[in-house]
Amino acid sequence: MAKLLIKSGCILRGTVNISSAKNAILPVIAASLLSGERCILNEVPYLEDVKVMGEVIKSIGARFEEFDKESIAIIASELSNPEPTYELIRKMRASFLVMGPMLSRIGRVRISLPGGCAIGTRPIDLHLKGFAAMGAAISIGHGFIEAYAKKLKGESIYLDFPSVGATENIMMAACLADGVTTIENAAEEPEIVDLANFLSNMGAIIRGAGTDTIKIEGVKELRGAAHTAIPDRIEGGTFMIAAAATGGDVLVDSVVPEHLKPVTAKLKEMGVEVTEYERAIRVKSCGCLNPTDIKTMPYPGFPTDMQSQMMSAMCVAKGTSIATETVFENRFMHINELKLMGAKIKVDGRSAIIEGSERLSGAKVKATDLRAGAALTIAGLCAEGYTEISDIYHIERGYIGLEGKLRKLGADIERIEE
Ligand code: EPZ
Repeated sequence: MAKLLIKSGCILRGTVNISSAKNAILPVIAASLLSGERCILNEVPYLEDVKVMGEVIKSIGARFEEFDKESIAIIASELSNPEPTYELIRKMRASFLVMGPMLSRIGRVRISLPGGCAIGTRPIDLHLKGFAAMGAAISIGHGFIEAYAKKLKGESIYLDFPSVGATENIMMAACLADGVTTIENAAEEPEIVDLANFLSNMGAIIRGAGTDTIKIEGVKELRGAAHTAIPDRIEGGTFMIAAAATGGDVLVDSVVPEHLKPVTAKLKEMGVEVTEYERAIRVKSCGCLNPTDIKTMPYPGFPTDMQSQMMSAMCVAKGTSIATETVFENRFMHINELKLMGAKIKVDGRSAIIEGSERLSGAKVKATDLRAGAALTIAGLCAEGYTEISDIYHIERGYIGLEGKLRKLGADIERIEE
């Protein structure tokens, strides 16, 4: 198994280029199933999750071809199999996003319940509520969902929680439905807007993406389209926090500053100099961070996907900070690992109280999930001595070449095969 070995004492300096967003690319791959024509995705980082999504759509009969360095083509002219491979659906929750396009395109799907993961039970009740409202007949048994719909019909659907996945799944299903679908209390994440832009280029009629009310007018069919996903705001935010925590001076290039407003605001509260340019953000820090408090919320609130990374910075701030996680019920697993590095953190319900210390101490730690792994990498950069992170396959699901990008910024980090 591979590990990351990080030697302390580095101050990150230089420019880092941010890749396209995993959480935008995955729903766009699913949306490509809505057309029988060729769709092209450019600048795709070859992440583990992208490979899994490619295997999922191939298992139902679509073609998924890599060409060029970072481009992929998806041709879903024939969707011959209504049952995507069980193991793949269980492996990656985002693969459940094929359900809406399949219901809309071929009218039937038999798919494994996606199951929970490290950070929570991850229910799909809101996805199913939307499909049922649009006329799908849904039955659940033996760990599978079976759904049929001769033709979905437009409906008004209220989401009890602004779920990103449910908003995406229902929006995709509504594109080929009969009539108009309105999603109320919809998620407003930038990835929703990006997906709506791709669907509109395919000929879909969508209004309101990025607000809490999205209207989709069903059309007969959709054409193929080409797309380059938005920059990964979570990768960008991760590098911003790493620069701040190590007292560095980093230009985080190829990002949309608007998408990173919550992270920028919090770093400024910590005394970090943050300068926004058109497609880049510069983070300059003396390394002495003030404490701050965060509370994760749906967009445009502070992103839950940045909570663990921010906690690593709080561990070396001068004072006590509080991090409250409101989106997922079990997203504090990085805390036990940070404690192995000397962090002083107390958990009280959904809040963690972090007493900042001068330095953390390097240790052997384990990545428990994708963003926890990123947080431990930041902590390793700020710790005394060596830090060894195992189970880094979690990190490689969502960060392409993380150690290479950090080494370019001056970090003493290497990937070692056990
Ligand atoms: C997406 O997951 C992201 N994944 C997650 O990023 C991100 O943390 C999350 O949105 C929130 O921003 C992708 O886009 C592939 P949700 P998703 O549905 O769609 C509850 C990462 O690190 N809920 O918005 O699964 C659910 O329990 C990953 O890149 C229901 O109750 O998130 C949770 O508490 C991790 N019923 C909350 O909503 C449902 O039917 C947010 O979930 C669906 C969700």
